[in-house]
Amino acid sequence: MAANNSRPLLFRGWLPAAQSCKLAREETVPNHPDHHAHAASSTDEERATAYAEACAAAQPDPGRRVVAVALEAGEFDWEFVPGVRTRAWGFNGTVPGPTIEATVGDVLEIRLSNRLPEPTVVHWHGLRIPAAMDGTQMVQHPVDPGESFTYRFRVPDAGTFWYHSHFNETVQLERGLYGALIVRTAGEPVFDADRTLVLDDVELEKDGQIKPPGKWLESHDGREGSTRLVNGRQEPEIHMAAGQTERWRIVNAASARYVLFSVGGRPFRIIGSGGGLIPAPVSASEVLIPAANRAELAVGPFAEGETLRVETLPFNRGSFKGHRKPELFATVHLGAAAPSTARLPSRLREIEPLVTGPATPNREVRLGFSLGLRHGVEFNINREQHHHADPVPVGELQIWDVLNRSPVHHPFHLHGFFFQVLEVNGKPPGFLSWEDTVNVPAFGRVRIAWMPDDRPGEWMYHCHILEHHAAGMMAHFNVVRRPDTGAPS
Ligand code: C2O
Ligand code: CU
Repeated sequence: MAANNSRPLLFRGWLPAAQSCKLAREETVPNHPDHHAHAASSTDEERATAYAEACAAAQPDPGRRVVAVALEAGEFDWEFVPGVRTRAWGFNGTVPGPTIEATVGDVLEIRLSNRLPEPTVVHWHGLRIPAAMDGTQMVQHPVDPGESFTYRFRVPDAGTFWYHSHFNETVQLERGLYGALIVRTAGEPVFDADRTLVLDDVELEKDGQIKPPGKWLESHDGREGSTRLVNGRQEPEIHMAAGQTERWRIVNAASARYVLFSVGGRPFRIIGSGGGLIPAPVSASEVLIPAANRAELAVGPFAEGETLRVETLPFNRGSFKGHRKPELFATVHLGAAAPSTARLPSRLREIEPLVTGPATPNREVRLGFSLGLRHGVEFNINREQHHHADPVPVGELQIWDVLNRSPVHHPFHLHGFFFQVLEVNGKPPGFLSWEDTVNVPAFGRVRIAWMPDDRPGEWMYHCHILEHHAAGMMAHFNVVRRPDTGAPS
């Protein structure tokens, strides 16, 4: 397909583990004042120790390998719209950045170099890795221009994930600092092709440059750019063989847009969500993908000569900006028929429910807002912007009621852990799944369950509408080994 992003990673292969860890440990010792962190409570020394431990503990499973990736964050010209040069920010000179691919049990060793004019950090969205590698300002210093930082972790789960800047996000993600991260494992269903579609939108000004963040409307709605992108290009053409069934991995990397995904209104099978495969395929002809979430679909077979619109159908998330018509993301052209070896089993995966029977929530997370004079709409959690939430003890089942006290939907994202959705507005969801992001409907309630495994440290959750996150709809908390100390032991 035209929009396919196949620029190779700068290097990949074997690296002696001990050596690279040592290298990274030296890099991380901070010797300059911490002028960026606003929320950190651990000291530099604690951070450096946690980092060194996580780095050393990251070893590939027997038979697996270390996948080394060089990511350079930089500024370059990019044609979101063919023929229009836009100053973009991205990784390795492309938008999205290179698709990082690994197998469960591999170690990813990612060296981030910053060639941007401002600091950055990279978050591995959906990956259940140690806190020290989570890529937020809570656990590391932002990487200053000209500096580098090495992330190193074992990849624990198969699925469709993504990575993105976690610094000045309304600017850095909008300009292109994100990419897909695909993890495979043995025994997955076989398809005729495996295709990744990273959806986004940008707002370009007349001169072709990205519009700077706006004020009232954007802080309320979040930005929905009018140029819709698939893999960094406006409304590309996708070529698919007739008679085949493909695995589509869809990542919604947009700042705020909810995508009600449709392929010409044709039925497809949902096979996976944010946390990998679901127990059994689900037939549908549309699937809601809130900002930051992912869906995996079995798409096809279609007939030769067909043309299908990949689009988002009208969906009301409570924003001022309405969506009354379908909006195009890409066009699929069906070429000559090709033989198919795709096999979609009726069972895809076993998922153990975390909760059976009645559940009593042990926490309420209230997503709210207020009107502020300085920033327009201010968003908060439990009435506090950048909320300090209570610690969570390792091994203690968490049942949280996430309440939306506002007239707009919010995509709630928990860093570092998967949860199961027990109820949306009192009703169980259509299927059991692992998730890291879930839509909390306007004035609605979502009950989730999650189990904090032994990865103590500082974590966060937030609304993934980037403007809401920036306006305070986020919280940070510690996962602790002993309930009474309030600190990792
Ligand atoms: Cu996808 Cu805190 O982020
Ligand atoms: Cu929100």
